[in-house]
Amino acid sequence: MKDEITREERVDNLKGMGCSRKRVEDARFTQGKGNYVDDIKLDGMLFGDFVRSPYAHARVKSINKDTALKVPGVLAVLTADDLRPLGLHWMPTLAGDKQMVLADGKVLFQGQEVAFVVAEDRYAAADGIEAVEVEYEELPVLVNPFEALKSDVVLREDLVAADGSIPAGAHGPRKHHNHIFTWEAGDKDPTEEVIANAEVVAEESMYYHRTHPCPLETCGCVASMDKVNGKLTLWGTFQAPHAIRTVVSLISGIEEHNIRVVSPDIGGGFGNKVGAYPGYVCSVVASIVTGKPVKWIEDRMDNLMTTAFARDYHMTGKISATKEGKITGLQCHVTADHGGFDACADPTKFPAGFMNICTGSYDIPTAFLEVDGVYTNKAPGGVSYRCSFRVTEAVYFIERMIEVLAIKLNMDSAELRRINFIKKEQFPYKAALGWEYDSGDYHTAWDKALKTVDYDGLRAEQAQRVEDFKAGKTRKLMGIGLSFFTEIVGAGPVKNCDILGLGMFDSCEIRIHPTGSAIARLGTISQGQGHATTFAQILASEIGLPADSITIEEGDTDTAPYGLGTYGSRSTPVAGAATAMAGRKIRAKAQMIAAYLLEVHDNDVEFDVDRFAVKGAPEKFKTMKEIAFAAYNQAIPGLEPGLEAVSYYDPPNMTYPFGAYVCVMDIDVDTGVPEIRRFYALDDCGTRINPMIIEGQVHGGLTEALAVALGQEIAYDDMGNVKTGTLMDFFLPTAWEVPNYETDFTVTPSPHHPIGAKGVGESPHVGGVPCFSNAVQDAFRPFGNTHTNMPHDHWRIWRTANELGLHD
Ligand code: CDP
Repeated sequence: MKDEITREERVDNLKGMGCSRKRVEDARFTQGKGNYVDDIKLDGMLFGDFVRSPYAHARVKSINKDTALKVPGVLAVLTADDLRPLGLHWMPTLAGDKQMVLADGKVLFQGQEVAFVVAEDRYAAADGIEAVEVEYEELPVLVNPFEALKSDVVLREDLVAADGSIPAGAHGPRKHHNHIFTWEAGDKDPTEEVIANAEVVAEESMYYHRTHPCPLETCGCVASMDKVNGKLTLWGTFQAPHAIRTVVSLISGIEEHNIRVVSPDIGGGFGNKVGAYPGYVCSVVASIVTGKPVKWIEDRMDNLMTTAFARDYHMTGKISATKEGKITGLQCHVTADHGGFDACADPTKFPAGFMNICTGSYDIPTAFLEVDGVYTNKAPGGVSYRCSFRVTEAVYFIERMIEVLAIKLNMDSAELRRINFIKKEQFPYKAALGWEYDSGDYHTAWDKALKTVDYDGLRAEQAQRVEDFKAGKTRKLMGIGLSFFTEIVGAGPVKNCDILGLGMFDSCEIRIHPTGSAIARLGTISQGQGHATTFAQILASEIGLPADSITIEEGDTDTAPYGLGTYGSRSTPVAGAATAMAGRKIRAKAQMIAAYLLEVHDNDVEFDVDRFAVKGAPEKFKTMKEIAFAAYNQAIPGLEPGLEAVSYYDPPNMTYPFGAYVCVMDIDVDTGVPEIRRFYALDDCGTRINPMIIEGQVHGGLTEALAVALGQEIAYDDMGNVKTGTLMDFFLPTAWEVPNYETDFTVTPSPHHPIGAKGVGESPHVGGVPCFSNAVQDAFRPFGNTHTNMPHDHWRIWRTANELGLHD
């Protein structure tokens, strides 16, 4: 048979890997045709909402629901006493702790859920909330973790034994009644010895402030218990629908096959939608009690104040080096503020997430990390806001320590990085704190970045600016922010990573239809990342059918294979690998069918873009479309008909994307206003599936990095009141604040991933935060600044200038 189109055209037709295929999701999103949880409307659906505590720490003396129950439209008011007989007044957290579903005797943070009002609509529920009378007795408030560790005030009375002793927690012994765990990685004594005997040691303490992912869509769900067939359906903003199904089954006793969890369209997650929240439990209970569907949707204040904070790490570091700048040791201690319950979303064996990647991109022979988790009167959560389980904190820590060491050595920090990078030939590289980095070429990326921005020219300009400032010719300083980050994404492997005992593999199931189109279902769930576009591209390249002929479906536990969901940029490293592997199973069967049809041995045909052709006789071939049809009507004798495959992929290792970022900033010392003149971001995420989507991910991640570095914060006063609980106070950047980003790339494939891809979604956030922060700090370096804490809002920048005497 003769080809009517060229091989190049056949490749183009597939829109496979490497192609900037337009996002298939956008047609519905841009036309307002998305289907979010709050779009779900069911017959007779009720609305549930919370009475929340105005106090950060108080005893609940009484709850009177009588008046509320008389409010028109209010049907029920649930309290802990109502949930107690069901054993649902507390629930397990993802971190091995437990959390009150509704206040059981006391409250531990402002906004804590006290009662759940179920009404005919949102407005009646709001009136009902106003009418619930709660009597509180205020207790002393602890918002500072260092004070909490010294205080006699017991926050978690449920975690103190009757004889006053302190039982061990999920992560080992506890030192104090407000202490949660101590977690260590690396070698303590050798590290202390190296640092004690070093030629140069730099020390710094830094606070990575509490912030919040603040997705456009808040958290919510609709629970519908069908009492006739005993089936519970739960639609919700879940980043891990299967895990939610298992948790709901475990805590409710409903058999898992009778629970269907559906994540419809999700308006951003960024970690906020990984955890299990009291709203889910209360909606399920309310649906069971009333026999009607019940919806619960947070408002913005609920979301910011109660579901999922991020960061809140107090970090102290020591870094040692030779006089020439070769780093010899690193020590880090973290006091981690986890709020009233330890509800951090981390793999079980990692109570401080992947903080033990804090040696970063550098060949540091000796290191030690110690993390102490502490209870305070703040909201629980501890989610990885656009990052892989605390890698953002780790990268911020090391990228600040490098700058502080450069100041101590009186050295250029770009050069300090260069002489300490792990070299290309050292990969796979075993880091001092335990991880084995899969691949990297840091020097090439760094050189490309510095050359592109004309680093030497920028430094010369900066030196001139300092002279001009001192001479009174300008009131603007110039900062050059550098950051080189190594990420760790793609949790599993199952042997290292589980959540609540569920190993962190992921999955893909493919069905090829007779006419040569297909559906693939995955255990992940997109929240805007474009999986329906990119996973079809992986398959197009693997199975030779056009991406436009492949539907990707995620998020329905009744149809999708079990998976651990989407967060920590794990979709491409894990589910993307499962997709490729399932595709290869399809291809293996297709090869047999093609050989049978072409009347040659299996080994005598080879795959070529969209077909199998006879080796040495490319004019003899069967297209994948023809093979698909044959699979359903010309089965090989002895072989099952049909063309389907499933893969559950347990990755052998994480993937380690990396990047080199440079930010050039002008700072007005009189107003504290920073102006980002240039931002250059080079990312290496291995094999690139869709360059346009990668660029979109980088833009989004950098914008969230800008937010965190320059203003975004969940701040508390001494009474535990949240000071930034609305978008009037919580900084979300708009197009006004966002600069023009320049993106670039190198490609260093992962050696263990089937297509060599690494994750990318969170990289720009992880690398961006220290880059913006370093730019601010660098502007003040010539005037004696070593370190100032984020967020660098205008006031804090002005104050730094003031403290350095620049207003005198
Ligand atoms: O888990 P999550 O989807 O948040 O993150 P990811 O795996 O980094 O993927 C984010 C988006 O970028 C997805 O649409 C990926 O398919 C795409 N991507 C890509 O095109 N090439 C890569 N090497 C990595 C991700």
